[in-house]
Amino acid sequence: MNRIPVWMDCDTGTDDAVAIMLAHASPELELLGISTAGGNTVQDLAYWNTQRLNGLLGTAYPVYRGAEKPLIRELKIATLFHGENGLGNVNLPVPENAVVPEENAWEALYACAKAHPGELRLVATAPLTNIAIALGLHPDLSELLHSILLMGGSAGAGNVTPAAEFNIHADPHAAGIVFRSGARLFMFGLDVTLQEALTADDLDELGSCGAKAGAFVRACLQCYMKGVRRYGLTGASMHDACPVMYLIHPELFEGELAGVAVELSGSVTVGKTVTDLYSDKQFPFKNATVMLKLDGDRFISILKERILSLG
Ligand code: BDR
Ligand code: CA
Repeated sequence: MNRIPVWMDCDTGTDDAVAIMLAHASPELELLGISTAGGNTVQDLAYWNTQRLNGLLGTAYPVYRGAEKPLIRELKIATLFHGENGLGNVNLPVPENAVVPEENAWEALYACAKAHPGELRLVATAPLTNIAIALGLHPDLSELLHSILLMGGSAGAGNVTPAAEFNIHADPHAAGIVFRSGARLFMFGLDVTLQEALTADDLDELGSCGAKAGAFVRACLQCYMKGVRRYGLTGASMHDACPVMYLIHPELFEGELAGVAVELSGSVTVGKTVTDLYSDKQFPFKNATVMLKLDGDRFISILKERILSLG
C-alpha cells in the first residue's frame, strides 16, 4: 500500500492528542513529523505533551519545537477545555528515551516537504503561527506541499467569540498569511467539526475495554466534557481529528470551494474567516475547500474503532 505522507502541526491539547492517535492508528498514513506551537497551552507543554504521546503509543515520531506565541497578538491558552497541563490534567510520563531534534518546526517542515515534493499533506490543528513562519521563510513551500488541511475557522458562528474560532482568533495574522499563500487549502471549521462529538457513553466504552489508549482518551477528555457542558453541549467534538479522518475517509465529508479571507482587526470580528459561500460570490478568488457536511455517526464509530485498535 502506498502510504500518504503526513506532517502534523499541533498545540497538544486534548483533541490534538486524539488526532495524533488517529493518525498513528491509520496504516494508510505515514506520519513523518510533528511540530508544536503555543495555543491550547504554552509551546513547551505542547511540545512535551507530544513527546508524552510518543511514550504512551510506543512511537518515536520526531517532534519539533515551534513558535512560543502568535505573530503579533499575545498568547491566550485554553485551560477550561484542556486543563492546566494541556492534557486534561492527566499525568503521562515523559519517555526516558525522548529525542529532541535540533531543527526547529519551520525548517524541519520545509525539509520534509522538499523530500516529498507535491506529496506531503500538512495537517494543521493549532494556531497557524508555525505554518505562516515557514511560508514566510520559504515561499516555495506552498507549491511543495500537496495541501494544507487545517482545523480552524467557521463560515458561520465562532466559539471563542460570536464571530471567530479559537485557532484563527489566536493568530489571525498567521491565518491571513496561510489563506493568502496560494497553497491548496482544505478548511475544517466549526461548520463541520461540530457535526461529530464523543458522548459520555462513547468515552466509557473507550475506557472500559482494557486498552491503554482508550483509557487515556477517556481520562484526558473529562475536563473537556466539563467545559462543553458549561456551554449546554452534551458531547466533545474532536475538531482536530477531522482533517486526519478526511485523509483516510474522504467520503464522509462534503465541501465547497470558496473564497475565504481572515478579519485581522475588527473590534468584534477579529479572527473571523469571512467565507464567500452564501453571497453572489463577490470575492475574486476561491482559495479553500470549505468543509460543510460530515457523517458524524460514521466518524465517531471509525474513530473509536481506530483508537481501540491501538490496544
Ligand atoms: C480548536 O481549538 C482548540 O482548542 C482545539 O484543539 C481545536 O484545535 C477548536 O476550536
Ligand atoms: Ca488544536
